[in-house]
Formats: sequence, structure tokens, C-alpha cells
Amino acid sequence: MDFTFTEEQLQIQSIAREFAQRRIAPVAAEFDQSGEFPRDNILEMGKLGLMGIEVPVEYGGAGMDSISYVLAMIEVAAADCAHSTIMSVNNTLYCNGLLQFGTEEQKHKYITPIASGEAIGAFALTEPQSGSDATAMRCRAVKQADGGFIINGKKSWITSGPVAKYILLFAMSDPAQKAKGVTAFMVDTARDGFRHGKKEPKLGIRASATCEIEFADYHARADEVVGDEGKGFKIAMGVLDAGRIGIASQACGLGRAAYEATLAYVRERKAFGQPIGAFQMTQTKIADMKCKLEAARLLTLRAAWLKQEAARTGARFSTEAACAKLTASEAAMWIAHQAVQIHGGMGYSKEMPLERYFRDAKITEIYEGTSEIQRMVIARNETGLR
Ligand code: CAA
Repeated sequence: MDFTFTEEQLQIQSIAREFAQRRIAPVAAEFDQSGEFPRDNILEMGKLGLMGIEVPVEYGGAGMDSISYVLAMIEVAAADCAHSTIMSVNNTLYCNGLLQFGTEEQKHKYITPIASGEAIGAFALTEPQSGSDATAMRCRAVKQADGGFIINGKKSWITSGPVAKYILLFAMSDPAQKAKGVTAFMVDTARDGFRHGKKEPKLGIRASATCEIEFADYHARADEVVGDEGKGFKIAMGVLDAGRIGIASQACGLGRAAYEATLAYVRERKAFGQPIGAFQMTQTKIADMKCKLEAARLLTLRAAWLKQEAARTGARFSTEAACAKLTASEAAMWIAHQAVQIHGGMGYSKEMPLERYFRDAKITEIYEGTSEIQRMVIARNETGLR
């Protein structure tokens, strides 16, 4: 087993770190406050190859591996979670999904502008009444004589929904078949029949734009079906396996930022005549933060490595991705919580980033499958029972 990174992996990590610290970190609080979408930064990230890291160069991406993606995500998330959310959905849920399941024509048409960062991609599975129970979706796609579909319905909590050019959509084409009745489609947001709904007001990741989207007799052509008809649920689940590694990386980055801020603070801040880091109660917290962070990082890198191997072996990595996401998101939440506590009043103040880390961390335990869903996936796979 070799824990060293390649030259190429270290290079993208360093590019991402430099950009994140120079361009993102100084404006993160401002974007959090305004809730404005950081369009210029995202465009620049596209130019650096960060919006399509694993996409082959022929489709406009950086052509790098899954470990590179994790390393870059960690750096961006350490500067700002909202930026990394936009990056993660673009890279994994959108580009990776199409790379795996799209036709050659679909890859050229729908990945190239998105992987290069010129435009943004989104993924639409969740609905107002169906989140964890994804097969309970009501968005309906009715097949037409020409092989196309008419789509009607609503999707909610769509990350980058307000700004996306294209969306990978999942709709029910045969409700009687439940999971086997879901079909995936490419949606062009400029076409008639597509409309943006209400914006979601959020606790954290406020600069990542999120909204409902609505379809009213939207016509999807036959060549806009992604994968086979009725295979949409498996596509969504496979894409989410990869997506969960992105969220795990995000949680590792956020947790690291909260940990490093805390480490600096406990060395400086004095109480009762000594640095607070010298007190055993603080030291216990520091040790636990460090262990949780290391465990999260190793599980995430291992899941990314397995994902890479899966391209060759075809083996599923659902359990490992769920373990990584569960461990990393709960670590990030716990570390952010302790970081606020150790900083005391300053942790609660908007003059420091700790309260933002605390608000941002919560979403990592919710989106792309709640912690309860990750536990369900792991336990079902381990026991073979359901
Ligand atoms: N890969 C491939 N196929 C899979 C799969 C996977 N990871 N997981 C399940 N499947 C297949 C199963 O094998 C089964 O197929 P067969 O019948 O042929 O065997 C089929 O899919 C149905 O599987 P289940 O019976 O297990 O389905 P279920 O209804 O019990 O649901 C679930 C399983 C794990 C709970 C799933 O619904 C789930 O993951 N829910 C959470 C959804 C989620 O993560 N939503 C996040 C929204 S996206 C988001 O947050 C984006 C954002 O903007 C950031």
C-alpha cells in the first residue's frame, strides 16, 4: 500500500489550494451574507480545470483521476463550502453521470460546455414530497409516438437550479414499475415547458443557488433520454455513489478548516494563566478532532480509489462511498460544533468563520442521502437484509 500522491495529484491540489486561498477565502463571508452566486470565481475555476476534473480532455475536462478530484475538493471546501457544492454537483452528479451513461453525442453536446466551466450543470431527483424515498417521485414522463416524452411535474432542492444550462432529470415513465419505471433525461433550461420555481432559503451554503424547477408539457426528444428507458433509478443511485465521495471530500475540507482555526486559537488564547490548549479538556477535543478528520480523509480517498478501479472492474463501491460520506459529514459537524465551543463568544460571532462552518457543515449530513440513508445502505449491504 502506497500513501504517496503522484506529481499530477499534488499539482492539482496545489492549484486548487492557491486559488481557494487567494480568490475564495477572502470573499466567502461576503457571499455567505449576500447569498449571491459566485459566477466569476466559478468561471475561473472552470479555466483551471476544476469544474470537470475527471472528464477526459476530449470532452472539455482536465482528464485527471478520482484522487485528484478529492484533493481539489478538499482545498476548495476548506475555503468555502458553497463554492465546493457548486463544484461537486457539476463534477460528479452532472458530468460523471453523463460520462457513465450518456451516448457519444450526448457527451460532446452536454459535457463539454459544463466541464470547461463556461456553463453550469445540475441534477434533479428530489421532489417536495420525496427525498430519501426517491422512487416515490411524481414527476411524470409520458412517451410519445415519436419516441420522445412529455414531462410534467416539480423538482425541489436543485443545487445550481437557478443558473444551470442543462439538467440531468429523473422522471417516472411507468409508475406501476416503481424503481424500474424511472427514466433519465437531459433537460435544456432554455426550452419552453421549463420554469424556475421558488428559491430555497437556506441555513448554510448560501452562495450556492438552490431552487425548485417545474415542467409543464416539456418535450424531451428521444435522443435526450439518458441510458435506457426504465433504467433511471439505477443511474441515479450509481451517480449518487460517486456524488457521496464528493460530499465526503467537502466535509473533509470544511472539517480541516475548522480544526486548523481551532488549533491556532488554542495556542494563542489564554485563560487562568495559560494557553487554553494546555487544558486537558481542550486537548481531548483536539485529539478527537484530529482522529475523526484523519479517519474521514482516509475513508474518502479509499472510496475514490475504489471508484477509479470500478471503471475497470465494474464492482460497486456503494458501501465504501456511504461509509466515507457518513463518517466525514458527521466528523465535519462534530468538529465545527466543538470549534465554535472552544472559540466561545468569538465562535458565535460573524467576525470569524466558525459560525459559517457550523451552519455549512449541517448540509453534508443531509444532501446526497441523509446519514440515516447512508446507514441504511451500509447495513443492507452488510447484512443482505432489508
Ligand atoms: N447502484 C446501482 N443500482 C442500485 C444502487 C446503486 N448504488 N442502489 C440500488 N440499486 C438498484 C437495486 O439493485 C434495485 O435494482 P433490482 O431491483 O434490479 O435489484 C433498484 O436499484 C432498487 O433498489 P432498492 O430496492 O434498494 O431501492 P429503495 O427504494 O429501497 O431505495 C435507497 C434505496 C438507498 C433508500 C435510495 O432510495 C436512496 O439512496 N435514497 C436517497 C436519495 C438521495 O440520496 N437523494 C439525494 C438527492 S440528490 C442531492 O442531494 C443533490 C444535490 O443537489 C446536492
